[in-house]
Amino acid sequence: MDHEQVVIKRGPRSGLPIIVAVHSTALGPAIGGCRIKEYPHWRNGLDDALRLSAAMTSKSALAGLRHGGGKTVVALSAGTRWDRRETLLDVGDVIAGLGGAYATGPDVGTGPDDMVTIAERTPYVFCRPAEAGGSGDSSGHTAQGVVAALRALVGDLSSKSFAVLGLGRVGSEVWKMLTDAGATVIASDVDDRKKRGTWVSPQECLTADVDVLIPAALGGLLTPETVPALRCRAIAGPANNQLDAPATADLLHARGIRWAPDAIVSAGGIIYATAVELRHETPDRAAEQVRGIGATLTSVVREAEAAGTTPAEAARRHVERVLASANLSGRVPAAGSLPLP
Ligand code: PHE
Repeated sequence: MDHEQVVIKRGPRSGLPIIVAVHSTALGPAIGGCRIKEYPHWRNGLDDALRLSAAMTSKSALAGLRHGGGKTVVALSAGTRWDRRETLLDVGDVIAGLGGAYATGPDVGTGPDDMVTIAERTPYVFCRPAEAGGSGDSSGHTAQGVVAALRALVGDLSSKSFAVLGLGRVGSEVWKMLTDAGATVIASDVDDRKKRGTWVSPQECLTADVDVLIPAALGGLLTPETVPALRCRAIAGPANNQLDAPATADLLHARGIRWAPDAIVSAGGIIYATAVELRHETPDRAAEQVRGIGATLTSVVREAEAAGTTPAEAARRHVERVLASANLSGRVPAAGSLPLP
């Protein structure tokens, strides 16, 4: 078992499966968003929580944060009616029961207003709206981090082409920033109502002949089946867990496609929220730290080249080193030690 603890509880108010996975607190209290989404079965939601919380440990470590990884998943079943407020209060109670070992934030299916509801039951919540004492919506900051990664990968954006796959809260911000920067952008989403600019089908977007493919929807899109059809030169986007399996990074490498690890590219939200809410940095300083994602990516890509390996492997080694040094120096903070804003 890789995870420190996993709580699965049927919410007493909502009747829904509430899953909180705490992967690691070796570097500090675990952080990771609350995902509310349909799954074929709640066990699929559990799988997602296990994978996503482990990815958060890597994300925090690569971002240089003194935090570990966790995730909340509320598994909905197709077509069932559910009560948002009851569900969020149930989530808040489960998080409260962890005594500070884990704090949540927004993710797929939740936003800053939902964090206010969760906060009725526990203080361990990021990204409430500013009027409610939080740092607000993290999507714009996550998008800034993606753009910093893109600049590190390809330099000047205006002469390059991009395919944005998924126009949710983060993807649509990235789309706008690229368009404003004068880049050539095509986009797609499973939801046609999000249509804007040059619009293609999800399949065309995935296989577009562009400088960079930007996965901005759900994970698992890079597989042994999809990789042979790709025509991009590089891939960098905010979607979590883009590879179906670690070995797919080698397939991308063999095809000469540079894959920027999503754990590096997607860290803007947690960097900004922890900077403002826990470290009491100014918004400008926090934004500067988000732009640091560019330098992190460059150093991991260089490390990979020097070691003759993939950026994915270089990132994995980096995380391993950071976690090992935390264990060695005995810097294992007790659960319940998350400083409150
Ligand atoms: N969805 C965010 C992520 O995956 C979660 C988050 C954002 C958690 C901000 C805390 C603060 O990184």
